[in-house]
Amino acid sequence: MSSYVTRKTPGDSAWFTRDRFGMFIHWGLYAMPARHEWIKRNEAIPEAKYDKYFKYFNPDLYDPKEWARQAKAAGMKYAVFTSKHHEGFCMFDSKFTDYKCTNTPAGRDLVREYVDAFRAEGLRVGFYYSLIDWHHPEFPIDKLHPRVNDSNAKELNRSRDMRKYAEYMRNQVTELLTNYGKIDILWFDFSYPGDNSSDNLHDHGKGKFEWESEELIATARKLQPDILIDNRADIEQDLWTPEQYQPTKWVRHKETGELVTWEACQTLSGSWGYHRDEMTWKSPEQLIQMLINTVSCGGNLLMNVGPTSRGYLDYRAEAALKVYADWMKYNSRSIYGCTMAEPEFVAPNGVKYTQSVDGKRLYVHLFDYPFQFLELPNLAGKVDYAQFLHDCSELLYTEGKVEHFSEGASDDEGLFVITLPIVKPPMVVPVIELFLK
Ligand code: GLC
Repeated sequence: MSSYVTRKTPGDSAWFTRDRFGMFIHWGLYAMPARHEWIKRNEAIPEAKYDKYFKYFNPDLYDPKEWARQAKAAGMKYAVFTSKHHEGFCMFDSKFTDYKCTNTPAGRDLVREYVDAFRAEGLRVGFYYSLIDWHHPEFPIDKLHPRVNDSNAKELNRSRDMRKYAEYMRNQVTELLTNYGKIDILWFDFSYPGDNSSDNLHDHGKGKFEWESEELIATARKLQPDILIDNRADIEQDLWTPEQYQPTKWVRHKETGELVTWEACQTLSGSWGYHRDEMTWKSPEQLIQMLINTVSCGGNLLMNVGPTSRGYLDYRAEAALKVYADWMKYNSRSIYGCTMAEPEFVAPNGVKYTQSVDGKRLYVHLFDYPFQFLELPNLAGKVDYAQFLHDCSELLYTEGKVEHFSEGASDDEGLFVITLPIVKPPMVVPVIELFLK
């Protein structure tokens, strides 16, 4: 059994750490301008202009069954969908606002269709819910708000009541966790406490006091006791969520040093919402290596897609999901139910390990494909059988002193040397499966 013990989570994280790989979906009105989901803020777009997106939002090709099918093929086991992003637009039929998809040409509850489609494919269902809201009339303008530089911003704030907005959030979270069956993840986003007594709105922020996070979280837990909640409401919960960077070690609790349950969230290119002209799409090697790296440090990967405003995944996103599908079809055994390898197993350069939680299988991921021999330290005498994972073809090996090298021979007793075919197997990252004794 794995020797790593993680900090206890309030919700049920057993399935989560087994499943390892999920799909993030950022979809909202911002898919129309198609230049980042923060566009309202980035370009300080006036309300009247932003209302055009509301007026013309018509996802005529929205077919979440197709998304779910691709997510499943990619090996993803759960999804997290933006029920509302910072722009404040609701992708569900909420009783507490008119700013929702049912009042646009879309004319239907998009969250409902997402939930039904993903559940039907056997994927677990999560909701992203933005704490930030750049549309709600009670949300006080702060440093991140699109109106922060408007000359009348302070005046507008006078009539805004944060407590009413906090209540609005509890009402909506209640809707989301009541009307759509079992929800596995609630992903709040995000907190940035500030000095709200300052004269300068650029000092103003929001955190657990403004959100009334304790009450908000209690509301959620009462409705869905097993649910996993992230840390971004400014109170530690189940999930630590490093964003747009890859941890190189298991994430630890800052004060106690305990290992925590963590999930890296990443984009296929440099934006969460659909960004037509963004060009930093990750290569197949990067995509696969990010997944392996994450699991090799005991974490999950939540990989994002940003569907177009017509409701389909563009060709670049589909190609990226296909990269995962092709690799996961043959190699998912090194991901599901796996975690960081035991400390006694130290991977050499160019190699990443994962290990099954029961301790019985060690997975050797070849980021660099070596010429003919792979030398692994401290494994002699510990392996019962070795094979490639993608085709389960046997790999021969020697242990201890390496006789077959005439020069540079090793007398490292612990060395385990696998003989590899000269030609790299047709896998972005080939994997070797070692059954341990
Ligand atoms: C950030 C961004 C946001 C995105 C999120 C995903 O907090 O504000 O646009 O949804 O990260 O992690």
